[in-house]
Amino acid sequence: MKLKLLAAALMATALQGASPPASADTPLRIFISTQQQPQVWRKVFDQYEAKNPGVTIAIESGGATSELQAQYLNTVMSAKDPSLDILALDVIRPAQYAAANWTVPLDNVDMTKYLAAYVDANTVDGKVVALPAFADAMFLYYRKDLLDKYAIAPPKTWDELAAAAKKITEGEKNPNLQGLSFQGKAIEGAVCTFLLPYWSQGKTLVSNGRLTFDRDAAVKSLKLWKDLVDQGVAKKNISEVATDDTRKEFQAGNVAFAVNWAYAWALFQGAESAVAGKVGVARLPALGGGEQTSCLGGWEFGVSAYSTHKDEARKLVSYLASQDVSSFMAINGSLLPTVAASYRDPEVLKAVPWFGEALNVVQTAKARPVTARYNEVSDAIRTTVNSVLSGVITPEDGAGQIEGRLKRILR
Ligand code: GLC
Repeated sequence: MKLKLLAAALMATALQGASPPASADTPLRIFISTQQQPQVWRKVFDQYEAKNPGVTIAIESGGATSELQAQYLNTVMSAKDPSLDILALDVIRPAQYAAANWTVPLDNVDMTKYLAAYVDANTVDGKVVALPAFADAMFLYYRKDLLDKYAIAPPKTWDELAAAAKKITEGEKNPNLQGLSFQGKAIEGAVCTFLLPYWSQGKTLVSNGRLTFDRDAAVKSLKLWKDLVDQGVAKKNISEVATDDTRKEFQAGNVAFAVNWAYAWALFQGAESAVAGKVGVARLPALGGGEQTSCLGGWEFGVSAYSTHKDEARKLVSYLASQDVSSFMAINGSLLPTVAASYRDPEVLKAVPWFGEALNVVQTAKARPVTARYNEVSDAIRTTVNSVLSGVITPEDGAGQIEGRLKRILR
């Protein structure tokens, strides 16, 4: 038996010697942060390695939030560092990366299978600059068991949510139970925090490349969140809460309602969760009289301009953006598919039943502005949201500051 194996191995070596596979000895390094389920991507990479002898894939993980990752990648890319071959980029960044020539265009890819928002985000000046890794949108997670106990239906407006949260927290008398958790830290997520109630009033931020900022709508948005803190629905130090803090606190059983992205679902159902089987998901509430909206998220894979294995990296990226991988990540990591057909895949729906309704939420979610100067737009909004929530400035002053800064950036 051993001899047979040895013979087979020798034969394989001999064959390789005669005509080496294109992928021989190609180490690829891919940047995926801890929040994007690297442990699940690892399984996809293991399968790819098994099918592509010679290719080895290493994950580099860092930066717990989108802008910390961006800061790190900015340093790596500014230094023209060749150590990363593939970059997982937040949906707001391909435009900036393409403008800086940090990613290489991907030729001959069929974009028609992807949801329209991701075709837009990844196409810059007619060129495909990255491919969709997964889709995303913000949802309202709630404790089904607690809503049932107090006979409350999932709220459709923020006022209904505040009333429901008060009823639950007063009834439970558990000092550790928060009514609502959302992102108030000065992180990328806080841009969506601001935009959700702003968009809910039917307003846009940018239209046809021009700033269409509505100051009254901005005041109402900032006031909504500050009032929720002042009423005790959200905790006092919400200005320190980042996306994954919301996820952890809800998962520990300390939150009745939470605003979060799709990835949180798989973790809520995991072995370490105190709330497995007790979680419901709904559309985010509207500001009174307005529409229920969501913020479009998602992540893309780009090939670094400084990679020394661009062909193999391109091949891997097109595999990672395939429908099969999209469904696998939905089933195993509750990451939303980028291909509409996956939302009807029975295996996906068995693993995450609410994904059937999530397609419509993703398709109607609103996108943050696409601009190469997005970093500055984001900074203007997220730092102001944070100052309002920590009580440093009023919602009125906050709206004025955002407007002033955006006018200088977008004109
Ligand atoms: C999620 C979204 C991403 C967003 C980020 C903000 O990862 O997919 O688009 O910018 O959260 O925290």
